[in-house]
Amino acid sequence: MIAHNALLSQLDTLLVQSRELWQVKAFNCDALPWQERFPHLAECVWSLDDCELDNIDKVQADLLAYLLPALKADLADLGLEWRLELLDIKAPSTQTHQSEVIGQQDAGHFSAGIKGRKWAQINAFTQQIDNGQSEVLEWCAGKGHLGRLIAKAYDRQVVSLEWQQGLCEAGEVFAKQWQLPQRFICADAFDAQQSELKVEQQAVALHACGDLHVRLLHLATKAGTRDIAISPCCYHLIQAQEYQAMSRLGIKSELRLTRHDLQLPLQQSTIANEKQLSLRHKEIAWRLGFDCLQRDVREVSQYLPIPSIKQSQLSGEFAAFCVWAAEQKAVTLPKVVDFEHFLHLGIERQKLTRRVDLVAHLFRAVFEHWLLLDRVCFLEEQGYQVSLEVFCDNAITPRNSLIKAKR
Ligand SMILES: C[S@@+](CC[C@H](N)C(=O)[O-])C[C@H]1O[C@@H](n2cnc3c(N)ncnc32)[C@H](O)[C@@H]1O
Repeated sequence: MIAHNALLSQLDTLLVQSRELWQVKAFNCDALPWQERFPHLAECVWSLDDCELDNIDKVQADLLAYLLPALKADLADLGLEWRLELLDIKAPSTQTHQSEVIGQQDAGHFSAGIKGRKWAQINAFTQQIDNGQSEVLEWCAGKGHLGRLIAKAYDRQVVSLEWQQGLCEAGEVFAKQWQLPQRFICADAFDAQQSELKVEQQAVALHACGDLHVRLLHLATKAGTRDIAISPCCYHLIQAQEYQAMSRLGIKSELRLTRHDLQLPLQQSTIANEKQLSLRHKEIAWRLGFDCLQRDVREVSQYLPIPSIKQSQLSGEFAAFCVWAAEQKAVTLPKVVDFEHFLHLGIERQKLTRRVDLVAHLFRAVFEHWLLLDRVCFLEEQGYQVSLEVFCDNAITPRNSLIKAKR
């Protein structure tokens, strides 16, 4: 098997080579930004109708099957050789059992009030935790659902760290009721004094966003914590303007990643419902339509983000939406506006942005793997033995990678 740092280096090369295809802000484009160099790819995305596009985007294998021949043709014309087989990269899957880690009856009580998919994640994650002896530190625990299940399943001492008092209290009530060896620390994860990380401990984090899991990795490696298991998510939720790489290779990389870039792995539509999907498309077309209008009125060729909208606004008229958006952004609209014209422009721009995004999505898996390996290699550099696996099905959560480190 290829070493993690060698794989990180290969992914890095591919991502640097392909930057123009994935490091793009679709809503700023007025044409496919790479169409001159990649004409086959441009033709391929324009030949798709909008419904096909949604379906292809949902499954990475379909996306690759549809777009790769065109990309390969363009690369051949350009005389470039990229390692496109990496686009299909997946972490190995661990064999988790579908069954509950605790008895059916207890599982009924423990899962009450937790959404089905969340419970499935917690159950699968718990199956990946060794039945060890050491205390478990649950990082950014929420109500401590994961810690609670670990405490119950393995009778292990669990400390759950969470900064929202209400969530800690709710977790404490449950732990007391079930006489579980779980206690809560109501503290800020950024306050090193209160984090209670130790050597003889297993630190776990399920979906601690961006900086939060990075913080755990820094504190745990500093404390020499023997065992770490994290499932990262929301890579873009960081304080810094740019991604701060962790591993030596990551730091040396030519990639400079903005928060916008870091959202790429999360751009996989999980909207299953057709009605919700068509509302989402309508909202984007309206936002872009308003954007064309504001550019015209302000004579500024720059995207102007507007706040979130209520779904009910979408059942009204586009003109009313524009008036509302103009008020939010203090844009003075002229007395007479051809709203139909701007709606049409919005729909056209939406078609374009969806095609720009579709091509960027080719690199979604590689990019997330790069981010995961940056963490894995950092841990290896700190003397840990590290594995990277998939701990549950993609349908349960697309953020299904698990990094396990021991020393
Ligand atoms: C995405 S939730 C994950 C909760 C839980 N691990 C789960 O998977 O259900 C992130 C949690 O981190 C907590 N959190 C955010 N910032 C924090 C901080 N600075 N210190 C401690 N907890 C924090 C939030 O209150 C929230 O409960």
